[in-house]
Amino acid sequence: MRRILVTSALPYANGHIHLGHLVEYIQTDIWVRYHKLRGNDCIYICADDTHGTPVMIRAQNEGISPDALVARMHDEHLTDFKGFHIQFDNYYSTNSDENRQLAEEIYLKLREAGHIETATVRQAYCPKDEMFLPDRFIRGTCPSCGALDQYGDSCEVCSATYSPVDLKEAACALCGTLPVERDSEHYFFKLKDFEPFLKKWTRSGTLQDEMANKLDEWFESGLRNWDISRDGPYFGFEIPDAPGKFFYVWLDAPIGYMASTLDLCNRTERNFDTYWRQSNESEIYHFIGKDIVYFHTLFWPAMLEGSGFRTPTAVFAHGFLTVDGQKMSKSRGTFINARTYLEHLKPEYLRYYYAAKLTSKVDDLDLSLDDFVQRVNSDLVGKVVNLASRTAGFIKKKFSGALCDHYPDDGGLLAEFAAAGEEIGQHYENRDFSRAMFTIMRLADKANQFVEQQAPWVLAKDPDKAEQLQESCTIALNLFRALITYLQPVLPEVSEKVIEFLNVDALAWNAVATPLPGGHQINKFKHLMNRLDRKGVDKMVESSKQALPTPKKAQAPSSTVEPIGDEITIDAFSAVDLRVARIVKAQHVEGADKLLQLQLDLGELGQRSVFAGIKSSYKPEDLEGRLTVMVANLKPRKMKFGLSEGMVLAAGNGKGLHLLSPDSGAEPGMKIR
Ligand code: 2FM
Ligand code: ZN
Repeated sequence: MRRILVTSALPYANGHIHLGHLVEYIQTDIWVRYHKLRGNDCIYICADDTHGTPVMIRAQNEGISPDALVARMHDEHLTDFKGFHIQFDNYYSTNSDENRQLAEEIYLKLREAGHIETATVRQAYCPKDEMFLPDRFIRGTCPSCGALDQYGDSCEVCSATYSPVDLKEAACALCGTLPVERDSEHYFFKLKDFEPFLKKWTRSGTLQDEMANKLDEWFESGLRNWDISRDGPYFGFEIPDAPGKFFYVWLDAPIGYMASTLDLCNRTERNFDTYWRQSNESEIYHFIGKDIVYFHTLFWPAMLEGSGFRTPTAVFAHGFLTVDGQKMSKSRGTFINARTYLEHLKPEYLRYYYAAKLTSKVDDLDLSLDDFVQRVNSDLVGKVVNLASRTAGFIKKKFSGALCDHYPDDGGLLAEFAAAGEEIGQHYENRDFSRAMFTIMRLADKANQFVEQQAPWVLAKDPDKAEQLQESCTIALNLFRALITYLQPVLPEVSEKVIEFLNVDALAWNAVATPLPGGHQINKFKHLMNRLDRKGVDKMVESSKQALPTPKKAQAPSSTVEPIGDEITIDAFSAVDLRVARIVKAQHVEGADKLLQLQLDLGELGQRSVFAGIKSSYKPEDLEGRLTVMVANLKPRKMKFGLSEGMVLAAGNGKGLHLLSPDSGAEPGMKIR
């Protein structure tokens, strides 16, 4: 029996779980369930990643303490995970005493061994908020392409990366103040000390080839020491002997894997040291996304090595989720939260679909919504569930629920299914779940061919064929049991129902070869799974669009100003192209009570025709020649009276309308900023 500790990356406590996260949690959960099924002593460890500026700011914005936010998110995350049958052996928090103790222990050991140094760092500081600003809390104009309102570290428009000091018109994202530069003493972990160790470790079978190659690139470009401190105010652990300095969230986040283990060990018979201090006593595996490889394959093993702990057995990275071939998108409704999914669809559809697509590679995984529906229906419902639903009823009705008193000759089918167990097991072990699913579905095809050929529904009509009917259904149900046994790590809920229906204690991997005993009594077949309806998928996408959070203003923590109406981001506002326009012609529209047709001149941009509902307030001749403001990039709308190519802006309170006019000096075509 192997002793195995498995982790998934700790989700941040300031956001909800979405389908992108679930690629990893489902992948890990399947792997852990597989190991448990094979009798290994495997534990699945996770926690919330609670520290850092974003959590602190979000709590301030909500007017609650970071601890209260962390507690709430912990419950919400756990509810979402349970909804997808993600079964942790412990789900803890990085904001815990255990984590503080371990972080301090590791830091002090690194310091004693000479792996910590200090250096002065010049950083952006907001004099109004009285805090150093992380790169993501500085906004400004991209120095490379001129895009407005970009983060302090990289441009989302042209992908350039830069330092916040290069940003033009930089402003604190919290209060809009111009940041100043200020010096501060920071603490650094000397990663370079570990270069020889890391070079060996990363080539000792711990990493997938793609990752090991990536690491070679990093080694070539040279390892740099890592800044592990942040100045207060910061939600995190204060560094020993360094008042006002806190551990950077990424220092204590992976230590959270240990803290969660320690919490579990403190509550059970398990021994922390056998996991984290003695590498010959257990195996440790980290499942992570490809974006956090650097932290898990350089900083983390070096920290463990430098402080006398053991290092992980392996780190498994996966790619990102795309939906219909594109990045998840809030506006397209494909940024789908776990909660929204569960309001519309069953978790096992997604577990199966992800399993059918997951490999041991770092490739991205595409959730193609059409393929999702098709695959779930044809494989799970068509090939697996139907096997039981087409045969169980005959056993129940015609034979009082009893299988044959001996297992009939099935031409070697069950033996073939049992023999496939080894290959399927290997695929699970290698995280090649797509191959495991493929192999299981080929077996399902064989079982269905057998049923088609036997046609129990025909046999049932002939009283002389009763024996053959019982035999064919007995065989089909034993094959069905084998398939569900192999699918158990993926379909825990269906498996539970099958255990009940087949009236067995469990579905043990090694029991597949041995048929259910002669005369075994099964229970009434209850519905296992509905077909997946595309309409349900569409509704989920629609609700994800509607669930779009009201974009926040730049998260001013200390502002007490209530938003007027629904807030929008600066990005949403910048998308509206407002221009100065001259009304060159205004006329009544025949048959329209409220409209005037305006011909608007935008200077070099040409002319536009717009229908405006201002007839009650203006005579056409009074408008001609005056300047106003129009939305120039509004999609043209076909109206009963013709095409309207924009919109003019007017103030109103139900009594009258007042067209907006720019101040003197404005010219037609000028952009309004
Ligand atoms: O990238 C993230 O979402 C981090 N919260 C993952 C942390 S994993 C571990 F190191 F704690
Ligand atoms: Zn500020």
